[in-house]
Amino acid sequence: MQQVKGVIARSKGAPVELVTINIPDPGPGEAVVKVEACGVCHTDLHYREGGINDEFPFLLGHEAAGIVEAVGEGVTDVAPGDFVVLNWRAVCGQCRACKRGDLHYCFNTHNAKQRMTLEDGTELSPALGIGAFAEKTLVAAGQCTKVDPDARPAAAGLLGCGVMAGIGAAINTGAVTRGRSVAVIGCGGVGVAAIAGSALAGANPIIAVDIDAKKLEQATKLGATHTVDSSKVDPVEEIKRISAEFYEGAEGADVVIEAVGRPETWKQAFYARDLAGTVVLVGVPTPDMKVPDLPLIDVFGRGGALKSSWYGDCLPSRDFPMLVDLYRQGRLDLDAFVSEEIGIGDIEAAFDKMHQGDVLRSVVVL
Ligand code: APR
Ligand code: ZN
Ligand code: ZN
Repeated sequence: MQQVKGVIARSKGAPVELVTINIPDPGPGEAVVKVEACGVCHTDLHYREGGINDEFPFLLGHEAAGIVEAVGEGVTDVAPGDFVVLNWRAVCGQCRACKRGDLHYCFNTHNAKQRMTLEDGTELSPALGIGAFAEKTLVAAGQCTKVDPDARPAAAGLLGCGVMAGIGAAINTGAVTRGRSVAVIGCGGVGVAAIAGSALAGANPIIAVDIDAKKLEQATKLGATHTVDSSKVDPVEEIKRISAEFYEGAEGADVVIEAVGRPETWKQAFYARDLAGTVVLVGVPTPDMKVPDLPLIDVFGRGGALKSSWYGDCLPSRDFPMLVDLYRQGRLDLDAFVSEEIGIGDIEAAFDKMHQGDVLRSVVVL
């Protein structure tokens, strides 16, 4: 057992606290990781607000990269000294999805079995089974994905959640490729990552839609060829118009990615897609939201696919090393997602900045 500093949410809505936590030595199949960087994600704020579940206290943080310090019995995929990005999809290899070869859908992902605790022994719930706003964290070894150690931790760690969700929504779920038009509704960290992924895949045009002009500027830097301010114009009509400029007769974009998580923007995505096109929902709705009221004939008549993207349908062992290599080669600008590097004591301030819309990601650097 060892003691380190970590950031917890003790009770619903209370400001986060930097406290001493106990980290058990890694048991079978577990690893202790020295955290080097961890991005601040909306999900951390949702945990703090009690929007995920009531299992307080939470150890927050889950978009992280670091160095493996120690591994438990039977761990062979990673070793002390390895530079890893942490993931929340440690696949089991045994469930129905895994057995049929769909490892990215694994229905039985796992985390560390032992619990990290407060000094008084109170068990902590690590955010998404990770808990990386801490000097060190205990995870399942399968949550550690080895990547090129020369990558900047603050950038590489972002692949652990939002940036992977966005890139994967385009490349994995939407099967975006060259010769296809893409529109992305909502250009926060996730949407902009979907734009970067679409650019990597060679899509043209790539239409960014947001109600905030600053977000559209960022989208352009990451590969959007067109921007639509949907607070001023009808995004459905604009997406249709632009797509038809590129592909004669197109009635919308081939792939429309919804990265807000709201019924009205999903409905825009539904009608802004071309016949036989694909809608990808990667924004996360709240439990009270409903599918918009649509004529069933429109669902039938437009064909194509209405999909959801869980964590970008990623397989960490396949996708993280590949994307880190593209980053190292200058083909994927992960640095552009790091708006600022902050200290472990600055997380409340980073939550505030999220609402102002000035940052894609604040990243805690340890
Ligand atoms: N139309 C277009 N864009 C919108 C609209 C709207 N009606 N409402 C909000 N937006 C834009 C915001 O201006 C912002 O740029 O959507 C973006 C949302 O971005 P963030 O709040 O930064 O969220 P992000 O981290 O990108 O995550 C997006 O995916 O993982 C989920 O929970 C997450 O649901 C959230 C979504
Ligand atoms: Zn499985
Ligand atoms: Zn996240």
